[in-house]
Amino acid sequence: MTFTHTLGALAAAALLAAPPAWAQAGAKLKVGFMLPYTGTYAALGSAIENGFRLYVQEQGGKLAGREIEFLKVDDESDPSKATDNVNKLIKRDQVDVIIGTVHSGVAMAMAKAARESNTLLIVPNAGADAVTGPMCAPNIFRSSFSNWQPAYAMGDVAAKRGHKKAITITWKYAAGDESVAGFKEAFEKGGGQVVKQLNLPFPNVEFQALLTEIAAAKPDAVYTFFAGGGAVKFVKDYAAAGLNKTIPLYGAGFLTDGTLEAQGDAAQGLLTTLHYADGLNTPRDNAFRLAYAKAFKLQPDVYAVQGYDAAQMLGVGLNAVKGDVSKKAEFGAALKAAKIDSPRGPFTIAKNNNPVQDFYLRKVEGKENKSIGIAVKALADPGRGCKL
Ligand code: BEZ
Repeated sequence: MTFTHTLGALAAAALLAAPPAWAQAGAKLKVGFMLPYTGTYAALGSAIENGFRLYVQEQGGKLAGREIEFLKVDDESDPSKATDNVNKLIKRDQVDVIIGTVHSGVAMAMAKAARESNTLLIVPNAGADAVTGPMCAPNIFRSSFSNWQPAYAMGDVAAKRGHKKAITITWKYAAGDESVAGFKEAFEKGGGQVVKQLNLPFPNVEFQALLTEIAAAKPDAVYTFFAGGGAVKFVKDYAAAGLNKTIPLYGAGFLTDGTLEAQGDAAQGLLTTLHYADGLNTPRDNAFRLAYAKAFKLQPDVYAVQGYDAAQMLGVGLNAVKGDVSKKAEFGAALKAAKIDSPRGPFTIAKNNNPVQDFYLRKVEGKENKSIGIAVKALADPGRGCKL
């Protein structure tokens, strides 16, 4: 080898060993929150942001040694604005990672944009099955659930409780449709039958005509997916119609999570399934709840936990790549090998980048969704259509 060749090789090696430009400049990690800050899911969006910020605070304001710059977009839970909104973060702000969102329809547009631009996306709520199904990608992760998961757990519980004929009622969009499909799958496997599926457009809350239909049909049980402001109104209307005395109402746990203050007596005794519950009484959850209440003067709910765990997942991945978000494959491999130490209980990340986790059966007692046991242990989303 000649002298110039040797010099060339040395220069190349030095270049390879040199820290990336962002590291040399000490650039902040740009985290874009795309969440609903207005509308029926506004409280959910702010709980997710609170949870995320709490975890970052607990790490001294940095993840993998990088300071963080937060950017925010209100997605209004409006799928028609979702592509423009996500591109504000991807193209205009050039964020390193997006945290969002709550609404399944908005999340699907985000997943498409994240796939196309290879931007890191961590979904801290929206359960759209497609995001960890046919649209799954090495740069898209979820800290929450798929719509199928809590619904499947509830279908199993309802069948085991001996119900035979159920009516479902929900909003007509991906989350409602997929929640009903998950419930139906387990309920019918267990010997029940879904005899009618009732819908209304999101975020409509004019439930009266549909409640009259349920009263006339007299099923053994009703299964529902509603969340946020719509869940508050539905539970109150169900009770006001007297149906809570005659036809048991079951739901994916969003029906009563973060809503009990407003639902009051109407929610008492309701059974739901979810990957979080009150009264877990583990040291991990107790510490989280205390820290959250201190920081925000609020009790945490499932959305706060999902935001907190989105930050934890980001931290795990970033530590593995020493803060270099361009290393998507190593980032993903670290998450798949990790056990996330969540307030909900430890969970792992499956091949399709969705949590494998326990689903609690919860009963409303006062202002709490008390855990009364585990409905389904270590439930993994089937990841139908995911080719990872
Ligand atoms: C969804 O659209 O996926 C969703 C919204 C609120 C709670 C749970 C799921």
